[in-house]
This record gives sequence, structure tokens and C-alpha cells, in this order.
Amino acid sequence: MFNHQILNHKIIWLNETESTNLYASQLLKDNPADETAIVAAFQSSGKGQRQNIWQSESGKNILMSWIIYPTFLKPDELFFLNKATCRAILQFLKTHFNIEAKIKWPNDIYVGDKKIAGILIENSIMGNVIKHAIVGIGLNVNQTHWDELLKQKCTSIKLILQKESVVNEAIINLLSDLHQSYEVLMNKQFPALTDFYLKHLFRVNEEHLFRVNFETVKGVIIGVNHFGNLIVMVDGELKNFANKEIEYIIPD
Ligand code: BTN
Repeated sequence: MFNHQILNHKIIWLNETESTNLYASQLLKDNPADETAIVAAFQSSGKGQRQNIWQSESGKNILMSWIIYPTFLKPDELFFLNKATCRAILQFLKTHFNIEAKIKWPNDIYVGDKKIAGILIENSIMGNVIKHAIVGIGLNVNQTHWDELLKQKCTSIKLILQKESVVNEAIINLLSDLHQSYEVLMNKQFPALTDFYLKHLFRVNEEHLFRVNFETVKGVIIGVNHFGNLIVMVDGELKNFANKEIEYIIPD
């Protein structure tokens, strides 16, 4: 492990850890600086959303947790942190790799019908104050093989561009894009974050199949509300869905 300060980023580089999010949560006892990043080549127990495991081959991908103190946000504004994080990842992919990605609500990053990155944000809220957030990002850079269950669903920068990229360089660039989006968030440019999110929302304004309460329904995503619920037109009626209440049906 060694520590590094590049531009304004404090980075802790690890060869292996259980989960960078877990490492970050333990590090919080030592009051790390705002925007400290924990980066690992390998996680033995990487955490995904919904208690899933995040799989990543050693040294091939970005596995990072970014510690921030967004105390300027009210708890009901937390979805803007998701929006700012998605914006940073999309700008990173576009600027450095010319890859056009989409945001699959609430916070997966897709290229075409395949996932290139996942975000796991863990917040600590006390009363009306956000104490800290750990923004965990897993982004597939050079991995090209996944196990049977995932291989139809995942992609990487290498699969898209047919060439290897330098992971550590990509990490520094992603941190710069995160910093830039963090400034947008700090300045409370909420309409700009929402516009970007909607403009890049996967399957927005198109009719698709979804699963709701074990039933298949046809619907059109219209947008997201202030709290980050997905607004979908189903049978001529606007409905709001919280995370896990609606599932996209994506053909293999
Ligand atoms: C998802 O399920 O899509 C979210 C995946 C988040 C994975 C990243 S990898 C770095 C950080 N540490 C973890 O244990 N999880 C996040």
C-alpha cells in the first residue's frame, strides 16, 4: 500500500482488499480528507447493489471508493450525488475513450445493452445532515471474460475499443472528472445535473417491457422525480417507482 497526492486527490493504492467501500468506511474513523480515494487492484469480497458480489479480475479494472463530505446537501437531495457521479463517469468515458454511455436508472452505466460500470453509494446521515458518503465505483477497463451468468451482460473499454488501456491513468482521469462534477454539486447546479441525467437516461422516451410485481408491463420512461424515483407511463398513467419496484427486461 502507498499513498499518493496527485493534483488535489489523495489516493490510497492497495494491491488487495476485501472491498474498497469497506476499507473506506474503516478509514473514516481517521477523518480522511474530502475526496480521498481508495483504489484496489483486487477485491476478495467486492460489494455490488442488492447484496450482490462485484466480480473483477486482478489489476484489470477500476475498483475505487471516493470519500466525500457533502454536508451542503439535504438528505432529500441525495439523488443529486448519484446524478453527479453518473455525469462524471459518462464524461470520463466520452472524453478519454470517445465512448457514449447511458445511465441505466438508478445508477448503472451501460454501453448498448451491456453494463460497463456500477456505482454503490453508502451514506451516513445524522438527523438532517449528511455526514459523509462513500462513492464506490467498479468500471470495467481491460476485462474481457466473465462467468457464465454475467458474460452476456457485461462489457469493458477493451471490448469496445479492441485495445488495452492503462488502468492507473484511467483512475487519475476519473478522479478529475469526479472532482469536476463535485464542484457542480457543491454549487447546487441541480437543473444542470438533472438535464444531463435525463439526456443520457437509458431507454428514456421509448416503449419497453418492464417487470413490476412479477408481471410484465409495457411502459415508457419519462424521467425521474426529485427523490430519484423513476417516472414511467404505464397504460396511459404516470407511475413513480422506487429502486427495486421495477425491473428492466433486457434480452440476452
Ligand atoms: C453494482 O452492483 O452495480 C455496484 C457495484 C459497485 C462496485 C464497486 S467496486 C469498488 C467499490 N467497492 C466495493 O466493494 N464495491 C464498489
